[in-house]
Amino acid sequence: MTERHTPRIVPLVDLRSASLRPPAEAASASSRIAANGLLSDALGRPLRDLRISVTDRCNFRCNYCMPKEVFDKDYAYLPHADLLSFEEITRVAKTFVAHGVQKIRLTGGEPLLRKNIELLIEQLASLRTVEGRPLDLTLTTNGSLLARKARALKAAGLQRVTVSLDGLDDAVFRSMNDVDFPVADVLAGIEAARDAGLGPIKINMVVKRGTNEHEILPMARRFKGTGMVLRFIEYMDVGATNSWRMNEVLPSAEVVKLIHADLPLVQLEPSNPGETAERWGYADASGNHDKAAGEIGVISSVTQAFCGDCNRARLSTEGKLYLCLFAAQGYDLRSLIRDGASEADLASTIGHIWQGRADRYSELRSEMKPDTGTGLRRVEMSYIGG
Ligand code: GTP
Ligand code: 5AD
Ligand code: SF4
Ligand code: SF4
Repeated sequence: MTERHTPRIVPLVDLRSASLRPPAEAASASSRIAANGLLSDALGRPLRDLRISVTDRCNFRCNYCMPKEVFDKDYAYLPHADLLSFEEITRVAKTFVAHGVQKIRLTGGEPLLRKNIELLIEQLASLRTVEGRPLDLTLTTNGSLLARKARALKAAGLQRVTVSLDGLDDAVFRSMNDVDFPVADVLAGIEAARDAGLGPIKINMVVKRGTNEHEILPMARRFKGTGMVLRFIEYMDVGATNSWRMNEVLPSAEVVKLIHADLPLVQLEPSNPGETAERWGYADASGNHDKAAGEIGVISSVTQAFCGDCNRARLSTEGKLYLCLFAAQGYDLRSLIRDGASEADLASTIGHIWQGRADRYSELRSEMKPDTGTGLRRVEMSYIGG
């Protein structure tokens, strides 16, 4: 069964111009925060992961992210002058890394649509963590341009990629991306990324009940034993345009049960603190993890919120710092740097903002009625980055 949508008018409140002022005490000499990698927020959570959105545009129109009725030819994307330049992104990223960030993920929209993205990757690849190690530098893509770009991305210093893929059936895939893009081209992109050495590759599948749940098993079979990690993501109430309903969420527990019935699974330990996915390995005949068969992941932000150790900060395309995927407003770092802030000012500002962070949206949502969000307005995922 594939999805068809009746066009409808969706009231869209544009929150992109709303921004928070960086805390005033950041600039005062007596309360300066220097970057030493030891920062933690109001709930004791460290800062480890920075997600940078490099464009708010995408060539797909996945209904759960950029529905066609809203993101049409009249949609006002950010003008070029509003985007952070590569030099500005690298400067901000460097300060985050000095505060303890270990992983940088480039996102969008579709990050490979940003012109000369390889140049940004080269700059970011030269950064070193507080401990002097290279960053875990990765990128989330819809795969449509990967076949063309994989080698250049690797040469620029990208370590790995995560590819979004919501099904293997061509009709289902074309209907979900809503621009009639063929699945074979994304599969070719994944192969090209593998040949270029951009691994370990992760494949992200957003599962919508009634739309692509029958693709779960074919996807599991396709990627088992390939060294790629397939992750199933619960459809989330991000943004304000996707008309999210709880009855379209297929809980991860059901995904695991469904796969386990055909391909037995054993639960694995987390590989990193604060990670999004719960890991399940394919079992061998004696019930132990068969490493050659590999593993899957489930990302359950709706049914099992993972805010408790969330260490992720998000930098929007125009340089606002968001403390949560579901935040309504971000802190305007672009004005700060374009107004000539010193390195120490920038570090202190980011330090104060992170120290004040108490966001835990998914947990709050689970404490409320099952079919509702918190009622707070939120920015779109295509703008803030997944
Ligand atoms: P790896 O380091 O490769 O494991 O990446 P990751 O899981 O941290 O990042 P990825 O971008 O692949 O995340 C997968 C999906 O999880 C995203 O597309 C979102 O749907 C969801 N997700 C990621 N981070 C968050 C988060 O902080 N909160 C919530 N609620 N969902 C998130
Ligand atoms: N629910 C869950 N994941 C989403 N993504 C975008 N919108 C949603 C949503 N509503 C994620 C998917 C996609 C990535 C770019 O963003 O993981 O692969
Ligand atoms: Fe584009 Fe990814 Fe959003 Fe789909 S989910 S519209 S591919 S940014
Ligand atoms: Fe982190 Fe917000 Fe996601 Fe919770 S909802 S895990 S705080 S980004």
